[in-house]
Amino acid sequence: MSNNEHFGSKIGAIAALAGSAIGLGNIWKFPYLTGENGGAAFILIYIACICFIGIPIMLAEFSIGRRGGKDVYGTFKKLAPNTKWSAFSIITVCTSAVILSYYGTIAGWTMHYMCISFTDAFQNATPASVEQLFTEFTSNPYHPVVWQILFMIVTAAVIIGGVKNGIERSSKVMMPILFIILIILCFRSLTINEHSIDGLAFLFKPNLEVVSAKTFMAAMGQAFFSLSVGMGVIMTYGAYVKKNENIHQMAYQVVLSDTIVAILAGIAILPATFAFGMAPNAGPGLVFLTLPQVFAQMPLGQLWSFIFFLLLILAALTSSISLLEVTVAYFINELKMKRVTATIITTIIISIVGVFTTIAFGPLKDTTLFGMNIFDIMDFTASNILLPLGGILICYFAGWVLGKDSLRDEITNGNKLKITLFGFYFFIMRYVAPVVVLLLMLNGLGIFN
Ligand code: TRP
Repeated sequence: MSNNEHFGSKIGAIAALAGSAIGLGNIWKFPYLTGENGGAAFILIYIACICFIGIPIMLAEFSIGRRGGKDVYGTFKKLAPNTKWSAFSIITVCTSAVILSYYGTIAGWTMHYMCISFTDAFQNATPASVEQLFTEFTSNPYHPVVWQILFMIVTAAVIIGGVKNGIERSSKVMMPILFIILIILCFRSLTINEHSIDGLAFLFKPNLEVVSAKTFMAAMGQAFFSLSVGMGVIMTYGAYVKKNENIHQMAYQVVLSDTIVAILAGIAILPATFAFGMAPNAGPGLVFLTLPQVFAQMPLGQLWSFIFFLLLILAALTSSISLLEVTVAYFINELKMKRVTATIITTIIISIVGVFTTIAFGPLKDTTLFGMNIFDIMDFTASNILLPLGGILICYFAGWVLGKDSLRDEITNGNKLKITLFGFYFFIMRYVAPVVVLLLMLNGLGIFN
């Protein structure tokens, strides 16, 4: 049963949590959002969101999870019996299906790009040829779907292994490899030619002209997405963390590594983009459209391409398992299913939803709402609506339902640890975060215009 499962070691728990946080959000999304939103200005707002909203919400979610010790439904039922809070698990199941569906799309593309790295697909690449390659592949009705399903099967295989032998063990292997690859890629990107440095300047010199309400919403949405907070992943993993661990310190380690990896990914991608005279604002296609041209012009480009897409797959996998685990834990605990059965059923359901996001680039290209295709709608709904909403509810629960004493008891392990900033976190959870997140969300949606 899931509520008896635990991470075996502290380092394993951190690897799993950091593995969840570090994902496509850091390597695929963060660099292109930075490119679209004015470089350093976006990074500064993003870091402010991490410090003042992200960290308190992560602590709130982590504490709730460990105190409850069960899946999301069970945890709320235990901590707030006879209330409707356990219905929160409905949001978590929906959000995980929404995020995993488009996550699988991008991860599937990545697997394909890794495989074609060693062919001559990117040789003599021009903007037109990579674009054609990308459009032909992504609009094919079957090909990307096959890759996506393959990715979901790999994710399911890890989850079937369980908390210790699946999630923890795989994260402990994959995270260090990911880190090493990223550092190598940073060095490569910075040493291509004298224009690499322009990419660095773009990353670290703020351009305040492009800042608008949308920038704040994008930064906040990205903070939620990147830290994996707002939908019960941290809660579910929190339940697997032992009672004597210092969750305050762990939360900081996870947030710090997530932020460092996002910035390193920016350093690995943007200077290379500038070095070859390409624009940084290619949007979601940045790594698929721009980087192949970069690789084509580099010595040993095929190898670098392979290494880069491998990095992206590892990052995606340690995150997708966390998304799937939320739903699987719910099925195991509440519907009393075996782990294998729960995993197979949830994987099938989520893969079916995922097929629609994948074919949003092909047969369903013209199915749009407010100018967004199905894929964009999934991403927008998850990052800018469901996660902030989840974050507000989590803070409200921590601040008003669980209350100060229980929260302090959980974060300080029964007063054994001294957490100096506890009063500050509690104030944010109770008064600041719910209001600020709601305002940013409504403002970004254009409600006040
Ligand atoms: N944080 C991951 C990334 O940056 C994605 C992710 C995994 C996630 N689990 C999550 C996002 C839970 C939101 C909620 O790619």
